[in-house]
Amino acid sequence: MNSAPHKTNALMDNYGSPSLEFDHGRGSELFTADGERYLDFTMGIAVNCLGHCHPTLVKALSEQAEKLWHTSNLFRITQAERLGQRLVDHSFADKVFFCNSGAEAVEACYKTIRRYFFAKGEAHKHRIISLTSSFHGRTLSTIASAFNKAHTDGFVIGDSGFDQVEFGDIDALANAIGDNTAAVVLEPVQGEGGIRPATTDYLEAVRALCDEKNILLMFDEVQSGMGRTGSLYAYQQLGVIPDLLASAKGLGGGFPIGACLCSAEVAASMTAGSHGSTFGGNPLATAVGNAVLDEMLAPGFLDNVKRTGLHLRSGLEELISSFPELLEEVTGMGLMVGLKCHTDAAALIGELQNRHLLVVKAGGNSIRLLPALNVKQEEIDEALAILRSALEALS
Ligand SMILES: Cc1ncc(COP(=O)(O)O)c(C=O)c1O
Repeated sequence: MNSAPHKTNALMDNYGSPSLEFDHGRGSELFTADGERYLDFTMGIAVNCLGHCHPTLVKALSEQAEKLWHTSNLFRITQAERLGQRLVDHSFADKVFFCNSGAEAVEACYKTIRRYFFAKGEAHKHRIISLTSSFHGRTLSTIASAFNKAHTDGFVIGDSGFDQVEFGDIDALANAIGDNTAAVVLEPVQGEGGIRPATTDYLEAVRALCDEKNILLMFDEVQSGMGRTGSLYAYQQLGVIPDLLASAKGLGGGFPIGACLCSAEVAASMTAGSHGSTFGGNPLATAVGNAVLDEMLAPGFLDNVKRTGLHLRSGLEELISSFPELLEEVTGMGLMVGLKCHTDAAALIGELQNRHLLVVKAGGNSIRLLPALNVKQEEIDEALAILRSALEALS
């Protein structure tokens, strides 16, 4: 007989214990089983780029589910080939590897970087330099590369082959590059660390340094990619081209998928058997990924993200003028928007949730507003009105 004490929840406690639960969603709205409506500006942490249950995605997923779910990469997957080709056609990349999450996409990029130098007979070039306040995922290598003590404690033992320099400090980066350096990894717009775009000047200087030192430049666009900033990838607005790029989150619009994008030269070392994933590029995930692109690449979609982002931003600027003692500044690009607070950001998030607006916390005492990319102007206005009422309550 099993005499173990009764446990109410079998899930590990690593996510804390959230109490709010949703039953269904439509567009920018989430509903509890009791029919309570919430305005969702988290979108599963920048994942549901087309909102909840977008009809194009539901159709693509259900049609694929009726036909074929999974075969593995032992066989050709037409949907993956098509999605890969479309990403290549709309980015700097020549080659794509599919996996299932952001961390796996970053990990695939790290492996490709090391393998590239190994294949050139320069295996000593294996170290990767990251920037402070970065976030690259929760696998061993991705936490090791971000150097966030809250994530590495008890997990990262010894040196894992990463170095770190201050975000935006080009001299520090130049000094940190040594004989063993293989690459620099950075988020063109930092997400978890507080929404912080790198400047074009800084990115150009990093690119020039990488070229001068013969090392690779990798962008982690897991959060900033897939239309979030108003271009398919943020680098396309910032004007600096990487050698490798990690993509995920919005790529599946809510269905798990990740991708490592890179140039043909960098990809050449990833020969048959060098890397793999059972599920990566699976027909369900890539059918949905193609449907995401059908919507996102339609004329006007990305311009509308920029326009809506400006509308949100100007509303937030007005709130800063009204509550200068509570709010500091608006940051970000497109619909990847940060609101840096003087007041406790967690308390503001609580007040917003009480008023049925959902937003995400980010570093630097800020909140992140990550609405669906097709959010309606009236939904932005509703969110701004809720923010005003929450700020009035706090002031
Ligand atoms: C920039 C960045 N990289 C990597 C990741 C990790 O993605 P995932 O949680 O899908 O593994 C995230 C997730 O928030 C991210 O924002």
